[in-house]
Amino acid sequence: MQTRVCIIGGGPSGLMLSQLLHLQGIDTVVLERQSREYVLSRIRAGVLEHGFAQLMREARCGERMDREGEIHEGFQIAHDGKMDRVDLHKYSGGSSVVVYGQTELTRDLYEARDLMKGVVIHNADDVQLRDIKSVKPYVTYRAGDEIVRIDCDFIIGADGFHGVSRNSIPKTVLKEYEKVYPFGWLGVLSRTKPVSPELIYAKHERGFALCSLRSQVLSRYYIQVPLSDKVEEWSDEAFWNELKRRLPPDVSEQLITGPSIEKSIAPLRSFVAEPMRYGQLFLAGDAAHIVPPTGARGLNSAASDIYYLYHAMVAHYKNGDSSGLDSYSAKALARVWKAQRFSWWMTTLLHTFPDSIEYDRQLQQTELAYLFSSDAAQRSLAENYVGLPF
Ligand code: PHB
Repeated sequence: MQTRVCIIGGGPSGLMLSQLLHLQGIDTVVLERQSREYVLSRIRAGVLEHGFAQLMREARCGERMDREGEIHEGFQIAHDGKMDRVDLHKYSGGSSVVVYGQTELTRDLYEARDLMKGVVIHNADDVQLRDIKSVKPYVTYRAGDEIVRIDCDFIIGADGFHGVSRNSIPKTVLKEYEKVYPFGWLGVLSRTKPVSPELIYAKHERGFALCSLRSQVLSRYYIQVPLSDKVEEWSDEAFWNELKRRLPPDVSEQLITGPSIEKSIAPLRSFVAEPMRYGQLFLAGDAAHIVPPTGARGLNSAASDIYYLYHAMVAHYKNGDSSGLDSYSAKALARVWKAQRFSWWMTTLLHTFPDSIEYDRQLQQTELAYLFSSDAAQRSLAENYVGLPF
């Protein structure tokens, strides 16, 4: 098989890039290790920054997102017995975010790929990247007993944190930065009316909690838990009780509970791998960087990678200009590190750290008091939350 760009990973990043390149007449093949059903059963975050929503529209996949997604112009932070609102619209110069589940967005991207007869190969086992330093790289995978070879000009590693792409870069070249937080988030999805029309981030001494949503009939809630907790040990009842204890009393009273449709624990981690290019291989999204979910940056920091790669590939194929490809790693990493900084800041601000000292807790309180007394601080939060420019 032959293609111009071989994309490893059929998640939102890989599908989005494939769709954008196809619209420009650039041929791609997407390889995904899992089945489509599996990819579409994963529950992921649900806040899209302005720039990501624009990219969905540019990829001609934004119709359902614009119809069913909710525009949010602010969110709440509950702390020290009160609730303060962050006015995203006011402090970001009129911008906002779209609440639309990543799972739904992935479904839309698959549909768009199908309509354009894009090649997306599922259940591709044992993917291997070959000759990535040469100008004629290729990828092999196993389909049943058969080994299939795909010759290409470029390989995009959009196969997530555990994918093969990053590990195809020699250890002597790759530099990895990692910070593991001493807690995780226990998340519950329930078919209940959300407790609040806007997201509530709650700082509480028992641990952080978040009230989020997918629609007016589907709620997503999280609580901070120790890493040693097992999801089987958390009954629905125990989850709802703990969530209520961490929310302001007037919010808890309004909370409608119900059976969980999905329940899982995710550890919190910050991670960056440099460089994001090695030979003809370009890393994108979780394959190169991970953030804790607190600032809702995960998918959004993948969006800028895709944006830069898309424009660099188009300039290369249409004008013979490879400068965008050459500057990709440095440019992508500059924005990636800003998303890292913001996610670390929000995580540190709102969680209860098991090893914190009284001094740290005073600083957390002071940071929040400063935030809500300063227009400049709220502007800084808002511009990061709606997404820094690409
Ligand atoms: C979610 O809805 O899953 C969600 C929302 C905001 C976050 C993290 C997760 O910061």
